[in-house]
Amino acid sequence: MGHGVSLSFALGGYPTVMSDVSDDILNNAMGRIRWALDTFVEEAVVTRKQADDAIGRITTTSDLAVLARDVDYVCEAIIERCQDKKELFNKLDAVCPPHTILASNTSSLVLSDFGSDVKRQDKIVVTHYFNPPHIVPCVEVVKGPTTSDETFNLTYNLLEKVKKLPIRVLKELPGYLVNRIQMGMNREIYDLWVKGVASTEDLDRAVKGSFGFRLASIGPLLTQDLAGFPKLGALAVESCNNLLRQISDTKEIPEELSKRWESHKGFYDYPQEKWEQIIKERDKEFLGRLKQLYWS
Ligand SMILES: NC(=O)c1ccc[n+]([C@@H]2O[C@H](COP(=O)([O-])OP(=O)(O)OC[C@H]3O[C@@H](n4cnc5c(N)ncnc54)[C@H](O)[C@@H]3O)[C@@H](O)[C@H]2O)c1
Repeated sequence: MGHGVSLSFALGGYPTVMSDVSDDILNNAMGRIRWALDTFVEEAVVTRKQADDAIGRITTTSDLAVLARDVDYVCEAIIERCQDKKELFNKLDAVCPPHTILASNTSSLVLSDFGSDVKRQDKIVVTHYFNPPHIVPCVEVVKGPTTSDETFNLTYNLLEKVKKLPIRVLKELPGYLVNRIQMGMNREIYDLWVKGVASTEDLDRAVKGSFGFRLASIGPLLTQDLAGFPKLGALAVESCNNLLRQISDTKEIPEELSKRWESHKGFYDYPQEKWEQIIKERDKEFLGRLKQLYWS
């Protein structure tokens, strides 16, 4: 995620310092940025010159003191472990200038867990990106109990400036908005998959070609209102009455799935070397949508 977040700021015109624990990891991340930008150029989302300019804005360092020099805004994207994030936030608090905002790309933790020892309580915020973060527009900006309105608004405005689609999440709660909604859908998909109601491919095709097709353009709430128009509500009441009692409400991972994931198996069985090609094709399609819906 870190290389994509860095790329997003560099494409938005900001001098960006990317940091990790070793130079090898940073070189690899720069390689992934170049690879991603080649796809941006191939899809005419940016020109070669804009891509080269973005690369020119990124420097790398494994030294936090170098990162901290003159920095206005930091977004951490390290491993999702509370203690590690806590230690990093405390170190950043000690070395960054007093005005620097400290943001976290955590996907499941809340600021109250890992930001509690930071002195600049008003300048901490969660910015939750979605993979791939340099392409998917939405970023959830989550206000912690101590985040000031100034920090919240500055972060929101900064993300808009780099052409992201920030969303204001006004109270901290685990999973924020999007992962909670996604988990609700996944719970039902896992249940249908385990019961063998349809194949893996057909479950994906069903979502992609139905509500997935609509969702990129209109959200689920407008979708629902439009479906019920002009007798708004009637269809919603009927659907809820018919289905809410039928769908999964489990609080556990189905055993078949946890076993599969523990043995590092996903739903599909592609050979390792095919993944790069699949990701390339995915990114090309996403970039077309990004251009059409958000960057036109
Ligand atoms: N992968 C996703 O789809 C996704 C989506 C949204 C948010 N996130 C969040 O983004 C963060 C990173 O996820 P990822 O999938 O990129 O993980 P990753 O393991 O691929 O990358 C984490 C990077 O952090 C580095 N790192 C670890 N400890 C460090 C430290 N103390 N200082 C500096 N660098 C350190 C590692 O070397 C590694 O390069 C997590 O908090 C995750 O929950 C991930």
